This record gives sequence, C-alpha cells and structure tokens, in this order.
Amino acid sequence: MMNDLTEAHNLNDPVDRKRLEAVLRRYVPGPRVLWKPSCASTNEELMNLARAGERGWVLLGTDRQSEGRGRHRRRWVSPLGGLYLSVLPPLLPEESPITLVPLAVGLALSEALRDEAVQRGGELDPRLKWPNDIFARRGKLAGVLCETIKEEDGWLVVAGVGINLRPLSLENKRLIVDEVTSLDEEADLGWTRSGLIVAFIRRLSERLRDWKDRPEKLRRDWLAAADFIGKTVRVKTGDAPVEGVAEGIDENGGLLLQTSGGTTTINAAEGIEVLDE
Ligand code: BTN
Repeated sequence: MMNDLTEAHNLNDPVDRKRLEAVLRRYVPGPRVLWKPSCASTNEELMNLARAGERGWVLLGTDRQSEGRGRHRRRWVSPLGGLYLSVLPPLLPEESPITLVPLAVGLALSEALRDEAVQRGGELDPRLKWPNDIFARRGKLAGVLCETIKEEDGWLVVAGVGINLRPLSLENKRLIVDEVTSLDEEADLGWTRSGLIVAFIRRLSERLRDWKDRPEKLRRDWLAAADFIGKTVRVKTGDAPVEGVAEGIDENGGLLLQTSGGTTTINAAEGIEVLDE
C-alpha cells in the first residue's frame, strides 16, 4: 500500500489551531478549531459533538480520514495531503429553505478557492456542478457533504468539505468514479490548508447571511458560478439516469430539467454529467 505523501510532507503545511482561531475571529464570533492527526470522518465526529450539545462556530479538521464520507453513501478518499474539514455554524433559522444551505456552502468554497488563488498571485476558475461539486479544468477538485439535525427552533448543519490539494496516487484515483484533479495540478501556488480554511470561513459566513436574508441573490450568484446551465446533462439518480437540458435551479435548490416530457424538478441526485461539453 503506497501513501500519497509522507507524514513529513504534511508537516510542511502545519495547521496551528490557536493562530487559526485568532484569524477566524475577524470573520465569525467565538470560533473553536479542533484538529486530529487522523479520524474516521470529521462529519461523523462533528455530528456526534453537535448531538452532545456543541454549538458553533466549531471547526473540526484532520490530516487523513479512514472512512471519509461522500454524498450518496460514496466514500471520500482521504489520504495525507488533502484538506478534510467539517464546520458547525450557529443554529440556522427556519425562515429560509434548508435545502439551499449545501448550495451556499459549495458557492462559498468555490469563491474561497478563487480568492486564495488571487491572494497567492495566480488564478483559478472553479465551477459548480449541481448539487455542489466543484470542478476545475482537469476534473473534480472538491466536494461538499452537509448533514443536518432538526432542533425545535431551527437546524444544526455540519458542512463537510474535502479538497484535493496534492495529486492523488494512481491507486487512489482508481477508487474514484469522477475524473479528479488537485490544487497543485491546477495551479502551482504553494497552497496551505490554513489559508484555504480562512478564505472558506470568510465566504461561508457571508453566504449564510445571504441564505437567511436574500436567498434570491444566493441563487443568482450560484447560477453565475455554475457552468452547465443550457447544456444537456445526464442526472445520476438512484434509479435510471435522467437526461435533459439544465434550465436552472428553483427556490429550494432543486434542478430544473427540460426533458422530452416537459420541465421537471429533481431534488436529490448523485450529481450530473454534462453531455455536450
Ligand atoms: C462529495 O461526495 O463530493 C462530498 C465529499 C465531502 C468530503 C468531506 S471531507 C471532510 C468531511 N468529512 C467527511 O467524512 N466527508 C466530508
């Protein structure tokens, strides 16, 4: 079994929890950063902490996961060298559709990647694919998995993000269905996990405000960061895949798809494949 990276390499990109908390305080109130050298799944652990009464802003990160969770019960391959982070923001109110939150997280992550590239003197053009996959030129770069807990007066959401920072080994690539890429392969900019985390939390706090106060704007900005609208797509659902032209997303974040039988809304799926790229 070959590891993608040695422990030493990860030490070249250390995450200093206390420093991170100090910087994050500029953007969100009372951030707490927890970091583990390894764990099964940061989403699983943070969901357990939330159930036990932990409240946000709490961040849980790790250097590697043994049972990283992807959407639709897929696995998220999580060797050393990637960024694996789960975030618990404060309780979210019920006024806005909770189903839009994963889109807010995906948009915030794509904006953070773009910001961080500019900050490092380069550029990157990450694109969103419904529901919240992040692609760059060579393939999938990052993914988002949101899990929720319903409370009496709102929702607790654990937003998990995985970013491929360094190239994956061939062995790991074989475990993944999508074409995958990494930040280093897309732009050699000396990316750091701390830099990415700060950029992400900053954007996430803004986008969660939009989600609450002006969801229409969130929806518009999300569509502007997507690159499949007007294209023919195959939607991977649990049953038979559905094909049609992607028209947009509705106010709940569902995909509007024009099929031979008319326009239909798809609320949950593994993802989409663009057929006329
Ligand atoms: C996807 O399928 O695209 C979503 C992948 C989400 C992976 C992240 S890594 C950190 C967090 N912990 C997990 O177990 N999964 C998410």
